[in-house]
Amino acid sequence: MKSKWKVDIVSLDNKPVFEEIDRFCTEAGLPFFLPIMGNLRAQFVIRDSDGKMGAAGRLEYNFEYPMVEEIAVREDLRGSGLGTMIVSAILDEAKKEGIKTIWVMAREPEFFGTLGFKQTTEKKLLSMLKEECAVCRDHIKICNPVLMKKELSP
Ligand SMILES: CC(C)(COP(=O)(O)OP(=O)(O)OC[C@H]1O[C@@H](n2cnc3c(N)ncnc32)[C@H](O)[C@@H]1OP(=O)(O)O)[C@@H](O)C(=O)NCCC(=O)NCCS
Repeated sequence: MKSKWKVDIVSLDNKPVFEEIDRFCTEAGLPFFLPIMGNLRAQFVIRDSDGKMGAAGRLEYNFEYPMVEEIAVREDLRGSGLGTMIVSAILDEAKKEGIKTIWVMAREPEFFGTLGFKQTTEKKLLSMLKEECAVCRDHIKICNPVLMKKELSP
């Protein structure tokens, strides 16, 4: 894709940008909230040359499990590679941190499949995530997420 788009890493204490991300993710259809800062490792956004946000996503820990979380692409920009770009930034960061396996509770498993994630059953993680899912407004109605993982080569 021609790069009018730039990936930025967001400083974890940048409250206004996190509020912007929260609004952005809500508009993109995600059910969530501002981050639980303790677990958040890296937040990325993609902006155009005017600074307008096109995508967001983060690397977060759920207990000992590093996970890709809160991936969102602006609706009118979907299908043009921004989702791939933001996940790639997260995977690069994970590799830098020495992470060998990364996980995602995928609302869109086919999208993550194109990025090399495979469906998995990791009982402990799945049962923790199912508890979170059970209280989500989208649960079952419009979202039946699939736990997936990817092995990261150095
Ligand atoms: C899922 C989402 C992030 C994908 O972003 P995107 O920018 O459209 O994805 P890309 O353009 O990088 O697509 C990469 C590949 O995945 C495929 N893909 C993307 N979304 C897909 C979907 N919903 N179903 C099947 N395939 C999909 C594309 O066709 C493309 O395939 P190709 O490499 O063979 O051409 C975006 O649709 C979105 O923000 N959805 C709403 C929020 C959401 O559900 N986030 C996921 C949270 S786990």
